[in-house]
Amino acid sequence: MNKLLLETIICYLKEELSPGLFIHSAGVAETAVSLAELLGEDKNRAELAGWLHDCAREIPQQELLYLAEAGQLTIDPHCRLRPVLLHAAVGAIKARQLDVADEAVLTAISRHTLGFPGMSLLDRIIYVADKIEPGRSYPEVEVLRRKVAEDFHCGVIAVTAQTISHLLANRQLIHPLTISFWNSLSGSGSEANAGLLPLHS
Ligand SMILES: [Fe+2]
Ligand SMILES: [Fe+2]
Repeated sequence: MNKLLLETIICYLKEELSPGLFIHSAGVAETAVSLAELLGEDKNRAELAGWLHDCAREIPQQELLYLAEAGQLTIDPHCRLRPVLLHAAVGAIKARQLDVADEAVLTAISRHTLGFPGMSLLDRIIYVADKIEPGRSYPEVEVLRRKVAEDFHCGVIAVTAQTISHLLANRQLIHPLTISFWNSLSGSGSEANAGLLPLHS
């Protein structure tokens, strides 16, 4: 990967993001590199996607809607109701504007919030790194970190289950892509290890 591009992007993010979000982005990049090394994924791609995943997170909601429309993204009813969900897809547009041309990196950025059925390894690394980076401190995070370290696939399932549980507990809508992602995980072979069994058998 182009080291100069990464350095330029880190400088841009330091200027653009709040200190807290900058530190979170650094944590996601660091965690994503560790996971990539462990799992045989390209660590430069993981680092770049980790740094950039939330580059649109602090854009006001109305502007996110505007940028999504300008970028000809499909805005489903859930995202129209909660435009913050668009920060992932708009982040990919912004990353492209910052000269990131690697489609795998752009896709990982665009899928990090909602998930997507059949996500690539890089997609899943960014999705998981976002939830367990060192700055995260919610009650379940230590258990999730352990599960991810023990078995990445089971860790992805556990992280997704925690996300959905949190949404249910807070009476929030669950985006259809998150449900599709969950269902795709439940059909992928390690359900017994992960404690995930079909509801209808
Ligand atoms: Fe995000
Ligand atoms: Fe994030």
